[in-house]
Amino acid sequence: MEIQNSASASTAEPLLDLTALRADTPGCDAVIHFNNAGCGLTPRPVLDAMVAHLNLEAAIGGYEAAAARAAEIADFHASIAELVNTRPENIAFAGSATHAYSKALSAIDFRPGDVVLTTRNDFISNQIAFLALRRRHGVEIVHAPDHPDGSGVDVEAMAALMRARRPRLVAATHVPTNSGLVQPVAEIGRHCRELDLLYLVDACQSVGQYEIDVELIGCDLLTATCRKFLRGPRGSGFLYVSDRVLRAGYEPLFIDMYGARWTAPGEYRPVDTAARFEEWEFPYATVLGCAAAVRYALRVGPGPIARRTPALAGRLRERLADLPGVRLLDRGPAPAALVTFGIDGWRARPFKAALDARGINSALSYREFAQFDFADKDVEWCLRLSPHYYNTEDEVDTVAAAVAELAGGSR
Ligand SMILES: Cc1ncc(COP(=O)(O)O)c(C=O)c1O
Repeated sequence: MEIQNSASASTAEPLLDLTALRADTPGCDAVIHFNNAGCGLTPRPVLDAMVAHLNLEAAIGGYEAAAARAAEIADFHASIAELVNTRPENIAFAGSATHAYSKALSAIDFRPGDVVLTTRNDFISNQIAFLALRRRHGVEIVHAPDHPDGSGVDVEAMAALMRARRPRLVAATHVPTNSGLVQPVAEIGRHCRELDLLYLVDACQSVGQYEIDVELIGCDLLTATCRKFLRGPRGSGFLYVSDRVLRAGYEPLFIDMYGARWTAPGEYRPVDTAARFEEWEFPYATVLGCAAAVRYALRVGPGPIARRTPALAGRLRERLADLPGVRLLDRGPAPAALVTFGIDGWRARPFKAALDARGINSALSYREFAQFDFADKDVEWCLRLSPHYYNTEDEVDTVAAAVAELAGGSR
């Protein structure tokens, strides 16, 4: 269906055509999907692109189908490059955000005593990866302190650590999995550029929700999934690699025949582009689904999406704020569309099951996902509700009413 993105005369604000967007989204008929931070509901063009390619593979052969769709497959890189303001040559496909992240880390020649400077709100798997690097290579992990005002990491304190410790890597997660906190990744990036420090950003929860510009952020490497706010298929993600990093010769450990040329029996040469972080084998139906998802997001409009999505979450927070026994946990001046809260009298799974039973999709986060943040907040678990632009105000109110009803009970 054609997506209208017309301007309202009174506000001059482009309006999203929710009827068309929801008609494009089969799942909207079945559930109130407030788990977009887990996995967005796939729109029809994404589904169609994938199914068509699987059918083509079955009909003419996998290699032949890839050759027949070469232009559309190349649009994976082109569309993501457009989305994050870079060139296609700086984008690599990955099977997940974590896959992209570990490939990026594997390119760094860590030595004992090297410092990884990160934050207290970096994603669980990134923190585990740093601990694994400490175990194997003896790196030191330094966590910059949070700002006392609750706005996330204290950028000035982090910059002071950059100057004092000259980290081998600075790593920050834009929006963590366990709360709506938005970290000041561009401010961190400004210091990294000034000090010429390698900077890796996890934008898994922010790509597709906010307008992401790798130049503005000043990162060297950026990772994301396609399945969350981009509404692409599961099992997909990407890595942005800056020209600085490519020119400096960074390459992943275990580069393969796609990422490098075997130039002589004892030699290989990495390719010049971010393809050196890719592998020979691609799930082409998934790659095509990602390209369709990114084109869809670009048609809907990153600006309107970035305004509507956190605003819907804001409406939800307002409705939950005064409920007895409900404790909102998101911090920062302008939280993202991940609404997290604790609720008195309930255990985690029964509470989520009660929402499931009402046709409301949600997710749980546990202390294990956020050792620092949940210790600071003194919670063992929280429920996460994550609306997206295609959700409606009525759905927000229905979900808030369901929580209100449950807040009176206990299990
Ligand atoms: C902030 C953040 N980073 C990374 C990931 C990992 O993404 P993936 O499951 O695609 O590896 C997630 C997943 O929830 C996330 O929320």
